[in-house]
Amino acid sequence: MTSVGDVIAALTDRFAQAGIASALADAELLVGHVAGWTRGEVATKAFMGTELDEDVVARIDELAARRETREPLQHITGEAPFRHLVLSVGEGVLVPRPETELVAELAIEALRQVPVPNPRAVDLGTGTAALALALATEVPTAEVFAVELSPVAAAWAERNIARYGDGRVHLVVGDAADVLTELNGTVDVVVTNPPYIPDDEKPQDEEVTGYDPALALFGGPDGLRDIRHFIARAAVLLRPGGTLVVEHGDGQGADVRAIATDAGFGMTMTHTDLLHRERALTAVR
Ligand SMILES: C[S@@+](CC[C@H](N)C(=O)[O-])C[C@H]1O[C@@H](n2cnc3c(N)ncnc32)[C@H](O)[C@@H]1O
Repeated sequence: MTSVGDVIAALTDRFAQAGIASALADAELLVGHVAGWTRGEVATKAFMGTELDEDVVARIDELAARRETREPLQHITGEAPFRHLVLSVGEGVLVPRPETELVAELAIEALRQVPVPNPRAVDLGTGTAALALALATEVPTAEVFAVELSPVAAAWAERNIARYGDGRVHLVVGDAADVLTELNGTVDVVVTNPPYIPDDEKPQDEEVTGYDPALALFGGPDGLRDIRHFIARAAVLLRPGGTLVVEHGDGQGADVRAIATDAGFGMTMTHTDLLHRERALTAVR
């Protein structure tokens, strides 16, 4: 028998040595995943001196060895939290990021303001369907269309939509430029987290470079190629007065506002996160 506290201390050390910044959190989450406990329960069990069976310790050790190679924790557990949802994730789809929860919030607020019984939203480049499902579950009368180019990513979206979509989230596999033309001029909110990293900029974390698909990350030489395409498409999809919400990188705020203005949007505004990094644009058609 080995105590929860000892296992967490050993894992934290191993993960820190592997260069993982969130070593303690990952250790607690991994133990919780194998033992079937929440992170809060793991902390309580560690405090109480609870012991783990040898087969549980062996399973933790097996998964920890994968994490040491910098495989994302979310790929190992198969799950990623996003707002109040727990999404299925894995090979071929971007792991949804905490910063995208702010983008969801902006779109949800806009959708809640629409004075019709069934407001309509589109999520361009849906990945796991994180944004589409946040909108559909937090605005329970909304009808949401989720567009994804990659069939592999779309398979993850399909799984999550089956679990949380409530029959109101419609997945469309194809290029954002070509699909949903039947909705032109009728959409209340378009939300998107496009690829926006410049092609020659290498992300720092091995979890990103080794596992997130390039199609989800890189946005051409200046990082703005897909933002331009998606904003142009949103300008056609939205009804007059409809709201656009676009996630982007820090330092891209002025460029993205200019792209939206050129595409015919007004009231452009850049939103920052708690660390004052530029994170998202909102604009009105
Ligand atoms: C940064 S990821 C965002 C995924 C998800 N919305 C999220 O926030 O976690 C961008 C997504 O756009 C998809 N994508 C890239 N180009 C696209 C295109 N032309 N049409 C539709 N989807 C596209 C990628 O495959 C990827 O899933």
